[in-house]
Formats: sequence, C-alpha cells, structure tokens
Amino acid sequence: MSVPVVAVTRQIPSPGIAPLEEAGFVVRYREVDAACPADELTELAAPAAGLFCLLSERVDAALLDAAPNLRIVANMAVGYDNIDVAACVERGVMVTNTPDVLTDATADLTWALLLAAARRIGEGERLTRTGRWSGWRPGELLGTGLGGKTLGIFGMGKIGSAVARRAVGFEMDVIYHNRRPVPGATAGYVSLEELLTRSDVIVLNAPSTPETRHVIDAAALATMKPTALLVNTARGPLVDEAALVAALQGGVIAGAGLDVYEAEPVIHPGLLELDNVVLAPHLGSATHEARAAMVQLACDNLVAVLSGQQPLTPVISLR
Ligand code: GLV
Repeated sequence: MSVPVVAVTRQIPSPGIAPLEEAGFVVRYREVDAACPADELTELAAPAAGLFCLLSERVDAALLDAAPNLRIVANMAVGYDNIDVAACVERGVMVTNTPDVLTDATADLTWALLLAAARRIGEGERLTRTGRWSGWRPGELLGTGLGGKTLGIFGMGKIGSAVARRAVGFEMDVIYHNRRPVPGATAGYVSLEELLTRSDVIVLNAPSTPETRHVIDAAALATMKPTALLVNTARGPLVDEAALVAALQGGVIAGAGLDVYEAEPVIHPGLLELDNVVLAPHLGSATHEARAAMVQLACDNLVAVLSGQQPLTPVISLR
C-alpha cells in the first residue's frame, strides 16, 4: 500500500507537522504564514489523502473534485463554515474539527472583550499611549459595572456554557437563547426577543449558519437597551456590520467588543473610527496551550482516518 499524502495549507504552530511525520505520512507542507489562495490550494491538495486546513481556506466541491484521493478534511478550528460539508459527505470525505480544546481560551477572550468594552480599556489605552492623559480625574472614562446586570448568551454550546460559568464570579444574572433549551443549563432559557430586550450584555457564541446570519441586524439592535453592550467571538456574519456601525454611531446601543468580522481580514471602515467598540484580530483560541492542542487534535484525526480508524472529532457521521 502506498504511503498517504497529507497536505497542510499554511504554517502551523508547535507541534507543527511532527505528528504527521511520526505517523510516516508524506507531508506537503506549505510553510507560509498566510492564507492559501484557491489555485495554490488545488495544486497542493491534488495528490492528498488528507487535508489539514484552517478557517482561512475554503474547501468546496471544486477543490474536492481536484483531489480525488481525499479521505479526510481536518479543520484546525471548531467552526467549519469554511467547508462545504454536504459536498464532502457526497464524496465520502470525512470532515473533522477541533472542539473542546479551545473552549476555555475562547471563553476567556469573550470575557476579555466584555470587560474591555464595559470598562473602556481601548479608549484608555489610546489616551495614555498618545500622551493625552493629564492625570486622574473623577469623571474620566466612566464605564459600566457588571454586578447584578444581565448577561445574555446567544448559543449555549460548550463555549457559551464556559462564558456562563465565568459570569458567576462577576455576580451577573445569565439568560440564554439557543436552537433548543440545553438540559441542565444553569442559566434561564428565553426567546431571542427576550434575550435582546432584557440583556445588559449580549455575547454571541453560536456557529455561522444560514439561520444565524445577521441575527443581530438593525431591528435586533433597535430592540436592545441603549446601555447594552454586544460581544462577538463567534463568526462575523452573525452581525450585520453596517447596521452595528449605525447603531454605535447613533447611540442605539452603548458599545461592542468584536473578535470576528463579516469579511475578514477586512473590517468595516466605520468600526475603525468609533471609540465605543473594542476590536481584536480573531484571537479567540490564540493561547499557546489551545493552539498546540488544536494542531495535535487535527493531526490525531488525520492519523486515525488514514489508518482506517474512526476520527476523534467528526463534525458529521458518514454512515
Ligand atoms: C476559531 O475561530 C475556531 O472556530 O476555532
């Protein structure tokens, strides 16, 4: 039997491709620290039985047709909206992701943005770094306290639940909206309408699907409290960015913290001009620990499938 070829679409952090080499695969490693353009991806994946890809690469029917030996697409991300899963299933190609190992890192980053937005950390940083700070003033950059306020979580999966657990320490009341109520959830299930109207802070932790696209649009923003904050560490398309800019400009809501954008890496120019939004460059899982575990899990999935075993974390069953 010939040795399987595994294509790795871009430079990955430690442990890198070591687990794939140890498994004896022929590794086609595009060791470039940038997204792989579609034509290069087609060329890279053509002879591969396994594809190690990231959220920056689009895996569609055309790519799958150009790689007829492909048996597994291992995405190094928990979200997999970059992959046409139906096209993979049609061709018998397994799709895996990297859940669990990034839950805490992403929940922490959600809180970092929430706190930064609530306490106006971005504005404060800009003030101090630009030499415009003239000393302590009792009315300077007043933010909002969180104790006793209501945190509304849209998407009560593993990350949403981890965000909720952290809210206990901040003494916030937690409510959530999900496709369906989550058994055993400690927070109260509410309709989307109630989540929007009652929450002082709304965090988005749901996957990007046709159903969640623009769940936060102009109408939803108008339903929120004028003092409310919005935090998105899920995927950009959940929010209508143009509507958010208008809402932040017009005082429809008070502020936002964003880690993800509709057309990454492009950011709506209106957001860049606003002081009441904290902007991070898609850092949800960006800790040494989480990224190493994501690389290892994606490699473990490749090794399992290419040696005839079940993957550890399939996104869908092929049977
Ligand atoms: C990052 O955004 C991920 O989905 O893992």
